[in-house]
Amino acid sequence: MSGLRRLDGKIVIITGGASGIGAEAARLFTDHGAKVVIVDLQEELGQNVAVSIGLDKASFYRCDVTNETEVENAVKFTVEKHGKLDVLYNNAGILEQAGSFLDLDLERFDQTIAVNVRGAAAFIKHAARSMVASGIRGSIVCTTSVAAEIGGPGPHSYTASKHALLGLIRSACGGLGQYGIRVNGVAPYAVATGLTSINEETAKMVEGYCEATGNLKGVALKARHVAEAALFLASDESVYISGQNLAVDGGFSVVKLTM
Ligand SMILES: NC(=O)c1ccc[n+]([C@@H]2O[C@H](COP(=O)([O-])OP(=O)(O)OC[C@H]3O[C@@H](n4cnc5c(N)ncnc54)[C@H](O)[C@@H]3O)[C@@H](O)[C@H]2O)c1
Repeated sequence: MSGLRRLDGKIVIITGGASGIGAEAARLFTDHGAKVVIVDLQEELGQNVAVSIGLDKASFYRCDVTNETEVENAVKFTVEKHGKLDVLYNNAGILEQAGSFLDLDLERFDQTIAVNVRGAAAFIKHAARSMVASGIRGSIVCTTSVAAEIGGPGPHSYTASKHALLGLIRSACGGLGQYGIRVNGVAPYAVATGLTSINEETAKMVEGYCEATGNLKGVALKARHVAEAALFLASDESVYISGQNLAVDGGFSVVKLTM
């Protein structure tokens, strides 16, 4: 870690913080001086992440992001524990199996929208209410995906949800700018996490796929790289950046080589 602590004194909620990118962000953000509340469905895993970081810096709160009351209570818990909320990292997400559009499972579609879009919307609403009430010029960051910008790399419901999440980011940016609150996205390409792999073998396959199909060669995308981009957007270093979707994809979403 560099000497600069980019989140000194900041109170942060990280949704989906029990695993993958969220857990990595919890480690990185606390290294940078933040106190984090890890919000997730996975109780044991989330609690273990908090303990491994240190309970003076991290705590776990069980919450299903699809339940607005639980979301509101997660924000209340944070403010009661720490006195304020500076940063929301909206990162919880689910992914369905890839398949033909002709067999689109609409129940699964609804679930994906409920977690990836409605859950993010509920957290933005309640986090922003808290920030406005205490005069905090907060930062909200959401993990989108390359599937927020283009169709093809993700399954259908997931792609629809991430495009909608990007719309939500832009709309919230418009609605919350008057309160000094910034809203941005980080958009990764494929990372080996619990979302995409179940063991070391499948993790290697995801990294191999990323390496083979990605534009930038010689580096495997890791959760840490995504967390570093989220850290920048969470911190005051990005003080005039809002409404953006920062691609962490080595150029994948903007390049189509034809020669
Ligand atoms: N891994 C990738 O290749 C990739 C690429 C682009 C974007 N993303 C996005 O990154 C984010 C984090 O995913 P990850 O790759 O770290 O996967 P992950 O599965 O390791 O982490 C996702 C976390 O979200 C939690 N979660 C799911 N539903 C929830 C709910 N209803 N309420 C509360 N928590 C819930 C899960 O329990 C899990 O801990 C997701 O939004 C995902 O769409 C991932």
